[in-house]
Amino acid sequence: MDGKVLAITGGASGIGLAIAEAALAEGWRAAVADRDAVALERARGRLDPARASFTALDVTDEDAMEAWIVGAAASCRLAGAVAAAGIAADVPALDTPADLFRRILEVNVTGTFLLARSAGRVMRDAGGGAVLLIASVSGLRGAKGRAAYGASKAAVVNLAQVMALEGAAHGIRVNALCPGPVETPLVARLHGPETRAQWLRHLPMRRYAAPEEITPMALFLLDERKSGYLTGQAIAVDGGYAAAGLMTPGN
Ligand SMILES: NC(=O)c1ccc[n+]([C@@H]2O[C@H](COP(=O)([O-])OP(=O)(O)OC[C@H]3O[C@@H](n4cnc5c(N)ncnc54)[C@H](O)[C@@H]3O)[C@@H](O)[C@H]2O)c1
Repeated sequence: MDGKVLAITGGASGIGLAIAEAALAEGWRAAVADRDAVALERARGRLDPARASFTALDVTDEDAMEAWIVGAAASCRLAGAVAAAGIAADVPALDTPADLFRRILEVNVTGTFLLARSAGRVMRDAGGGAVLLIASVSGLRGAKGRAAYGASKAAVVNLAQVMALEGAAHGIRVNALCPGPVETPLVARLHGPETRAQWLRHLPMRRYAAPEEITPMALFLLDERKSGYLTGQAIAVDGGYAAAGLMTPGN
């Protein structure tokens, strides 16, 4: 076994890519999976290919997920796994087609579960590890337009709790990280000027985060020495959004 490896879904873009980059800088190896082959090629140019591997897969493909995780753990200890693959839509609940609702739950919930299950099985046999599920503040609070997305992320928060309590006996910690709005390709596609203005009105810190502002908490939650007694939590890194109630206009 040569060092420790972090498996990351959705690792070719945005928050997942930033976590992969930060993990490499902290001495991890990285196994990056994403369904977007073009983005994976771009990520290959940004991450040290000697210490990172790149796999094209869809997180909803159960067999592909299992094979990727087993392969990632073949030469390194699988000490961490991050489920960052996700999709979103901004559609009022009453206008949300069932197909869209199902697709978002399939990727965000089933895909996240499959990563956590495959990684958890390997970690159970190896004596433990840390699993991090990227949820969202939209899973902690109702936000307009987020019927499917918010429901999917609330499910991810509960999944982290269930898998944390079942994993504890095997040395597996499972936590959820709930970002507020982060400047990523997903947000560039989804947030038009009106959506941005609404978010900024409700954000005590009055700004979006950079992906690099999410990575320190991710690495902390993955590090046994720093967060070894922390499991089953949903931690918001959100500029104060989830804490906010009535705000004065200028604040
Ligand atoms: N950006 C934000 O403001 C924000 C806020 C809260 C939570 N999140 C969550 O963070 C995670 C990452 O989001 P991001 O903003 O970095 O988005 P992003 O679009 O930049 O990156 C997501 C990556 O996931 C991949 N992906 C999507 N569906 C997939 C599938 N079925 N199989 C494999 N890969 C798939 C995409 O190809 C993409 O590379 C998501 O779960 C998202 O819901 C983002």
